[in-house]
Amino acid sequence: NIVYDIKGLEALRERVKDILGAKDIIVVPGNADTNPYVLRELGIAAGKVILSLLPEVKIIAVTGGQTVKEVVDNFPRCSFKDILVVPARGGIGQEVEKQANTLAASLAKKLGGKYKLLHLPDTMDEEIYKLIVRKEEVQDVLNDINNADMLIFGIGNAIEMAKRRKFGEEMIEKLKEVGAIGEIFGYYFDKEGNIVYSTTTVGIKLEKIKNIKYMIGVAGGAHKAEAILSLNGIKHNTIFVIDEGIARRILSIK
Ligand code: G3H
Repeated sequence: NIVYDIKGLEALRERVKDILGAKDIIVVPGNADTNPYVLRELGIAAGKVILSLLPEVKIIAVTGGQTVKEVVDNFPRCSFKDILVVPARGGIGQEVEKQANTLAASLAKKLGGKYKLLHLPDTMDEEIYKLIVRKEEVQDVLNDINNADMLIFGIGNAIEMAKRRKFGEEMIEKLKEVGAIGEIFGYYFDKEGNIVYSTTTVGIKLEKIKNIKYMIGVAGGAHKAEAILSLNGIKHNTIFVIDEGIARRILSIK
């Protein structure tokens, strides 16, 4: 019965929270790999957590992807006109509906707040990167990104994300060789949590995120369990909103 299920999920939540050493975790029933409606439930659950923290937040940075899109799409309209929303990083590499820019603007609209955008590619040559980051309007947004007090981010499988970002075969082989497992905003982690690769992109830097007060990591689908486990150095400071599929797989691995 339902009461039994809720108790089961709560026990699962506590065990997985301990395994991850996470700041907190929320587990929604189901597995997004086999039931697409679960992503919507994840979005709603993450939205509730975010809403409860907003009174203490001034700048929110968001990443792209389907999961963060679910958070934004299911977020209620409210009134936080002083909050600024920025994309965590440049990224016009994916479909426009899922780009960090689009999600930042949509979330700002839901909040009744403000937004700033970064119209830059996901990856670029080092030389071009150095020129672009010097531009005043880019510096202005970067400054806000670096002062974000909340980061809402999706978590990906390293190889899946590399393919989505249209990395070449050779690069994908290299990522496999170095043992890349998890990915968040352009950083690729191996099983031990070492960063084995990062894309040259304008935006949030990993060394800055320890200063972020609220890190909200959202992911659904059992196939993302290993990716979450790889996020050493980040897990302790993150509130994870995950589905039962991931939670059960984490338990079975550990
Ligand atoms: O960086 C990881 C991605 O944000 C995950 O994307 O939510 O579309 O699976 P997704």
